[in-house]
Amino acid sequence: MAYQTLIVENNDRVALIRLNRPEALNALSGELISELAAAVTAADADPAIRCIVLTGSEKAFAAGADIKEMAAKSYVDVLTGDLFGPEIERINRVRKPIIAAVAGYALGGGCELAMMCDFIICAENAKFGQPEINLGVIAGIGGTQRLTRFVGKSKAMDMNLTGRFMDAAEAERSGLVSRVVPVDKLVDEAMAAARKIASKSAVATMVAKEAVNRSYETTLREGLLYERRAFHALFATEDQKEGMSAFAEKREAQFRDR
Ligand code: HXC
Repeated sequence: MAYQTLIVENNDRVALIRLNRPEALNALSGELISELAAAVTAADADPAIRCIVLTGSEKAFAAGADIKEMAAKSYVDVLTGDLFGPEIERINRVRKPIIAAVAGYALGGGCELAMMCDFIICAENAKFGQPEINLGVIAGIGGTQRLTRFVGKSKAMDMNLTGRFMDAAEAERSGLVSRVVPVDKLVDEAMAAARKIASKSAVATMVAKEAVNRSYETTLREGLLYERRAFHALFATEDQKEGMSAFAEKREAQFRDR
């Protein structure tokens, strides 16, 4: 499918989705967010794809929701239109892993979009922030909730109340990102991680993603029980037999997603 605001390449079992509105630092317009929801949903449904990488440009992952598009909207417009709500739901329903590869600005909705992914690899020039307070509003798609769970209350309050940016070193120190790499290595590093994920059993991968995400939704006791039952259930798969036999036979496992 041809997109106006994205470049999508399917590359060796990985869908690489690049946000592409350079004139607006990849600000999330209605068109971009709806194309993104369509692109990740299509990748999720495509049996040839096993992992998704979402990236922007070297200057900006995304500088937030499109302020010029939002500016004139009324309360009733955003309430009844549920600004971004349905698209975000579709992105959150994707069952294949999504890696955010962030260079440059990831601000407002851009930071929130990165946090919706399963993990974030960032470049040394990355800058994360929730500067909505400067616009007389607050974060609207996770900046007060997901950021707090990533970096704790003190830093989340600091970023949401002052609007200050967090650089790559602080983001790694605070647990917002899993790794920091040089800008020119960012996409290669994210693609290598995605290919590594693509080489595993897709059944175990899907269950692992669900189990980690469950930790955000439930108590520790319930989460541990969920994990244990999911672990037990994987013994019903051929991939468990293959993975454990391959270990004993000192060879690479050949997973068949069964
Ligand atoms: C619309 C944007 C934009 C945005 C940048 N641009 N961010 N357009 N929405 N969020 C446009 C600029 O208007 C400009 O267009 C071009 O991109 C380049 O930006 P500059 O500001 O000239 O670049 P620079 O001086 O390098 O500054 C970069 C920046 C700054 C620090 C990232 O652009 C900035 O502060 N952007 C806004 C960040 C922000 O507040 N994000 C939160 C949005 S609210 P022209 O045409 O002038 O060249 C949000 C809510 C989410 O995200 C909740 C949704 C439900």
